Amino acid sequence: MNKFTFSYPTRVYFGEGSAAQAFSAELGKVGKTVMLAYGGGSVKSNGIYDEMKAQLEQAGKTIIDFSGIMPNPTYAKVQEGAALVREQHVDFILAVGGGSVIDCCKVISAQAVLNEDIWDMEYQKGQFPTSGIPMGAVVTVSGTGAEMNAGGVITHEEKKWKGGIFGVAPAFAVLDPAYTLSVPPMQVLSGAFDTLSHGMETYFGSSDQDNVSDDVALAVMRNTVVNMRRLLTDMNDLQARSNLMWDSAMAENGILKVGRLTDFQAHQIEHQLGAYTDCNHGQGLAVIHPAYYRHIVKDAPDKFTRFAKAVFDVDTPEAGVDALEDFIKECGLPTKMSELKSTVEITPQVLRQVADTCNIIKSGPRELSRDEIYEILMECL
Ligand code: NZQ
Ligand code: ZN
Repeated sequence: MNKFTFSYPTRVYFGEGSAAQAFSAELGKVGKTVMLAYGGGSVKSNGIYDEMKAQLEQAGKTIIDFSGIMPNPTYAKVQEGAALVREQHVDFILAVGGGSVIDCCKVISAQAVLNEDIWDMEYQKGQFPTSGIPMGAVVTVSGTGAEMNAGGVITHEEKKWKGGIFGVAPAFAVLDPAYTLSVPPMQVLSGAFDTLSHGMETYFGSSDQDNVSDDVALAVMRNTVVNMRRLLTDMNDLQARSNLMWDSAMAENGILKVGRLTDFQAHQIEHQLGAYTDCNHGQGLAVIHPAYYRHIVKDAPDKFTRFAKAVFDVDTPEAGVDALEDFIKECGLPTKMSELKSTVEITPQVLRQVADTCNIIKSGPRELSRDEIYEILMECL
């Protein structure tokens, strides 16, 4: 284990009907003007928007609507939200959605109280926000675990870059699995694959032995696979959605990462693929992971063997990677670039740009060269 300090900023209200409990405990602590932030409209058709509005009105809040936060949220949308917060003197931000809405709001929160551009502050000066407009998160689609950390993943369209920006962690998060029942099956599985990826990327990053985080990570991964399989037989299995919702939080709330090096190389490649193609995050990961792992499987044979046995009940490192790929196919998730929904045609030239601009992780089983990343991407074409 490396040195660490650990504390937790987010109170979690988990389970059916937990929004009412959260709001009665939390809304009295925040100011009158609340920005109600959401995505492209799913919350309007499934009734969650009306429920949030009624709860906020009952608590005597003035509501400022902020809609249209897109999947893979853009930096322009962050700036639009921050301007609205300042203009309307917003006291509290309620993010209602998935990783995209929550991430966008985390960065809006920090940007709204800064006198400088948050991107320049973080990427050029290496400084990070210490305060922001208080916020809460209501999760309507799970997978990213974004509700329990301060990091946002934002696409800067002008810079052709998708990457992390630190914002403000939600003070509280509502995780009601029933809210996810309206999520389309492909999005449910893509989100759950993201959770599996977080488990794998955390697990494969460190080489120390007998670490409790590895044991927990393997359990989270296995549980994610078990519950995804349950959903393949019954998409409305609320218990499975509930299990996946907590797997999602567990995989990315930081607990598995304390005192460890993580890998997250597949994520870095996927984020830049997202910057060029606007592809779905979980689906991009599904395409990249097997090819990436075939390149590094020989660099961490013991860890891959343990993963193979614990998550997929097979015996060898290579069989573990094959089982992962078979599982992706079983879920109907994409395995090739051509199956991704993209704003541009994914050509070798696009993939070269992705390889030339993505972050390279120095830990993990092995550091990759840009040419090897390109090779991995070409194997997915
Ligand atoms: O926009 P609406 O209409 O709400 O539709 C959304 C969106 O199209 C829909 N949806 C959400 N809740 C729904 C629903 N549809 C029906 N019923 C509901 N209850 O789902 C679609 C996808 O939403 P999105 O928020 O984009 O998905 P996800 O939660 O997978 O978030 C992806 C974003 O999170 C980032 C990704 O890079 C990506 O930008 N990540 C954030 C992380 C973090 N902050 O810790 C870690 C992750 O690795 C990831 O990078
Ligand atoms: Zn992810």
